[in-house]
Amino acid sequence: MTQPDNEVKPGSFANADPAHLATFPELNPNAVIELDMNGRVAYLNPEAQNRFPLLLAEGVDHPLMEGIMTTVEMLRSEGRESASREVEFANAIFEQKVCYAALPDETEIVRVYNHDVTANRRAERALHELARRVVDAQEEERRRISRELHDEAGQALAALKISLNLLRNDADDNPEIVRANLTDAINLVDVTRERIRMLAHDLRPPALDALGLNDTLEDFCMTFASRTRLPIEYRGAEISGLDDAQEICLYRLVQEALTNVAVHANATQATVDLVRSESEVAVRVADNGIGIGPEPGIRKTGEGIGLMGIRERLEMLGGRLELTSSEQGTTLTGVLPSESRP
Ligand SMILES: Nc1ncnc2c1ncn2[C@@H]1O[C@H](COP(=O)(O)OP(=O)(O)OP(=O)(O)O)[C@@H](O)[C@H]1O
Ligand SMILES: [Mg+2]
Repeated sequence: MTQPDNEVKPGSFANADPAHLATFPELNPNAVIELDMNGRVAYLNPEAQNRFPLLLAEGVDHPLMEGIMTTVEMLRSEGRESASREVEFANAIFEQKVCYAALPDETEIVRVYNHDVTANRRAERALHELARRVVDAQEEERRRISRELHDEAGQALAALKISLNLLRNDADDNPEIVRANLTDAINLVDVTRERIRMLAHDLRPPALDALGLNDTLEDFCMTFASRTRLPIEYRGAEISGLDDAQEICLYRLVQEALTNVAVHANATQATVDLVRSESEVAVRVADNGIGIGPEPGIRKTGEGIGLMGIRERLEMLGGRLELTSSEQGTTLTGVLPSESRP
């Protein structure tokens, strides 16, 4: 049984019975309940009285006590002293430790400690939910790539094969026709190459390896600006010493943040800054749009794994996401730890 750390003034429990005195349940911040072997409540500490006012009257019929005597019987028959279980009551979750003791005078006591773990369990559930959504998003991404490979590359190669077969059959024909067919086939190869290039680019921008983060971001901003007609000012810096994971993380942040600006912000201008301090690298995407409402990303279920995913990526690398938003616009900053090297 656990002992509270609280300090006890000498003599303050002069009238308590020895079993209580051993563990000071009066001081325990958790609800402590004692039952006799008939399932009647023999003792409630102040927290238990407060939290479960009906417990005294209802005894083992109280929802918090459901099935408790079965647990006690099990402890007794197996000669064990305690068991843990989890009980939900009134929108709260309690980790219950059920303790059984047979005293030398043959009285038997059952003591139940109730530790409120609602906040922990909710956090765990939120984490599970997030993990599930990340896995779903990965699956969706795979499905998209598989669909695109099938539809774009697969169809194009099939068409190319048909063209080449025709060419083989018509090889003796008029060279003009052969040349025209060949030109078609070459065009088809170019289109397919471009589509595969775009697909690969989505998965990992090759420019990151070839050009480094700064030029890749600048490129991306310019292409994005011309595609969406959103003016974007890019203010970069040459930054060395970042590893692959850090670079891709900052690149994805800019991708997601600018996509959000284009889709949600109704902005007329965006700026992207890449900056380094002594110990950190930050990328900041700001817009002059309408701002994010309260609790972005969790207002409607199923909406918004973009920002959550970015936050996760940053935190996994020891960094953080900072978000400020008002009716004048939104600024999203991703910060990663990175020592600047001379
Ligand atoms: N720059 C912005 N301006 C205004 N609102 C924004 C901006 N960025 C995000 N939001 C709001 O925050 C929400 C959450 O953004 P998030 O990127 O997480 O999800 P999403 O863009 O809706 O969906 P997903 O990114 O998963 O495709 C958005 O739905 C939008 O309402
Ligand atoms: Mg988004």
